[in-house]
Amino acid sequence: MSSQPEIRVLPTAAALFQAAATEFVALTSDAVRTTGKFTVALSGGSTPKSLYALLASGSISNIPWDKTYFFLGDERHVPPDHPESNFRMASEAMLSKVPVPAGNVFRIRAEEKDADAAAQAYEQSLQKFFHLRPGEFPRFDLILLGLGPDGHTASLFPGTEALQERNRLVVANWVEKFHAYRITLTLPVLNQAACVMFLVSGQDKASMVREVLENSNADLPSQKVRPADGRLLWMMDRDAASRLKRSM
Ligand code: 6PG
Repeated sequence: MSSQPEIRVLPTAAALFQAAATEFVALTSDAVRTTGKFTVALSGGSTPKSLYALLASGSISNIPWDKTYFFLGDERHVPPDHPESNFRMASEAMLSKVPVPAGNVFRIRAEEKDADAAAQAYEQSLQKFFHLRPGEFPRFDLILLGLGPDGHTASLFPGTEALQERNRLVVANWVEKFHAYRITLTLPVLNQAACVMFLVSGQDKASMVREVLENSNADLPSQKVRPADGRLLWMMDRDAASRLKRSM
């Protein structure tokens, strides 16, 4: 049975990222204790940058960088040095500043002209890393997600083809409003995770947060993220939660 969302509201953005960092560290030690490693898919956009910077700041201890394997939940169809690259953001904020072995970082090769070829290559790297047989999905210890103003998450935008995908792990998703492809993990992969953490900050997200968490008829991409056998954690600051009817 898919999990009920755990909703945590922190008074400020700074408190939100501190609490998310604490949760991250707790999840790493659980995973390393049970499997010897921690696998995490990072989200893009602007919100997680503060979390990544905090994790890399040195003020958060006990992160087993050598046993942590970093993947991307989605990527823009741009090279890794492009200003819009999610990998560039994560690398500048964290990955280039911490002692994680280069072999532990799996980026999406979005410089590839053919977006579908980039998606297939990433799918193969997941199948290899997680030792998957055909039809199997990887189980990430943690998948970080953001919430877009239209209710999208990763690069699963309303009305796009990728939302219907039931077999692939990674697809190239055409997003009309950007006239561009995005490369994204699919819903079956998101819903196979041991823990999915939505990280949401700011007043501008408040009405969409209410739609996603309190309007079951909305049929938004973010509402389709319900791990079958895992935690669903919504971590937000008070501004982002300010329009929720239920008292927090
Ligand atoms: C991306 C993200 C996307 C993001 C939301 C929220 O590549 O942009 O993966 O899903 O999480 O758009 O973005 P902000 O954090 O910038 O508001």
